[in-house]
Amino acid sequence: MTTELGRLIARRIALTGPISVADFMAEALSHPRLGYYRRAVPAGAAGDFTTAPEISQMFGELIGAWLAERWLAMGRPAPVVLVELGPGRGTLMADALRATRGVQGFQAAVRLHLVDINEPLRAEQQRALDSFEPTWHERFDTVPAGPMLLVANEFFDALPVRQFERTPDGWRERMIGLGPDGVSLTIALAPGGTPFARHLPQAPEGARAEISEAGRALVHEIGLRTRRDGGWALIVDYGYERGGGTSLQAVRGHKGANILDRPGEADLSAHVDFTALAKAAEAPVFGPASQGDFLRTLGIVQRAETLKARANDRQRSAIDAALARLIAPDQMGTLFRVLAVGDGRSPAPAGFSEAS
Ligand SMILES: C[S@@+](CC[C@H](N)C(=O)[O-])C[C@H]1O[C@@H](n2cnc3c(N)ncnc32)[C@H](O)[C@@H]1O
Repeated sequence: MTTELGRLIARRIALTGPISVADFMAEALSHPRLGYYRRAVPAGAAGDFTTAPEISQMFGELIGAWLAERWLAMGRPAPVVLVELGPGRGTLMADALRATRGVQGFQAAVRLHLVDINEPLRAEQQRALDSFEPTWHERFDTVPAGPMLLVANEFFDALPVRQFERTPDGWRERMIGLGPDGVSLTIALAPGGTPFARHLPQAPEGARAEISEAGRALVHEIGLRTRRDGGWALIVDYGYERGGGTSLQAVRGHKGANILDRPGEADLSAHVDFTALAKAAEAPVFGPASQGDFLRTLGIVQRAETLKARANDRQRSAIDAALARLIAPDQMGTLFRVLAVGDGRSPAPAGFSEAS
């Protein structure tokens, strides 16, 4: 049995023909009434995924220190637009702002703007960040101009991707159409070549690839703003620099699922192509660094020691476990990467070995 959204998508395909994987993903996640991210609170231990800020306060605190340092490097602009894309429960930003209390003038300068489409999560963000009087946006485009600091953790992986497959005749796009019953969704190759071929690598027959136009367009807009108005953005996500293939996955109730099953009930996400993002920014970029290296350089090990010094035995083990989860290479330390996009006017940021 499919979902109401699955039936709507099937009807659209019956009327207008197969749709791209990106169009399917956009519908499944953001359909105004039935999309996954429009529905009940999806994050957290009881939901479909757990994110770094929910694992430990140390993550948000170190990002707060990074943002405040960038503000000082920019010459303390006041006001400064502080943006978070996809703030979830508001935990990262609450931890970040708490950690910046000692930075004179920073909190008074901050104008907080949150970009999120999920109403229940917006309510949680309101509770977590009430004293900073946030303004909410559906899209980044409506965030006001001006010197900016931006953070996005596990946001870009939710942006739609197109998928392609290399055939003997060149790259073809993978499309979503209808099965023989006229109702179920299936994936088939588009009959002709794709205009995206020039963005795709040389690859053997059968190879697959993904492109996120939405991700590239968004980072391009962020780069335009940081160059024009001054500012820094920090993008953290799971992804890759080389390689590719297809990575789109569905998760329902902490378990893998078929991406076409029960649209609107599963979290769909794809690994982020950091090389493509860095190029599309058309602004000074730093990284991507691995999350483990980035957090270690910012002092997460020392922060863990400070927290442990006033903790009981049970809390100390929890802090150690959280630290390992965030930085160990076999956990989030290597798969997750961090990219900074800047303005070319301020000195290099902490956490990265060199500019690219
Ligand atoms: C995986 S959660 C990450 C939450 C948070 N950053 C964290 O690390 O815990 C993705 C967040 O992005 C929001 N989101 C997903 N797609 C979005 C879109 N197209 N536009 C705006 N917000 C979106 C979700 O509602 C959610 O708050």
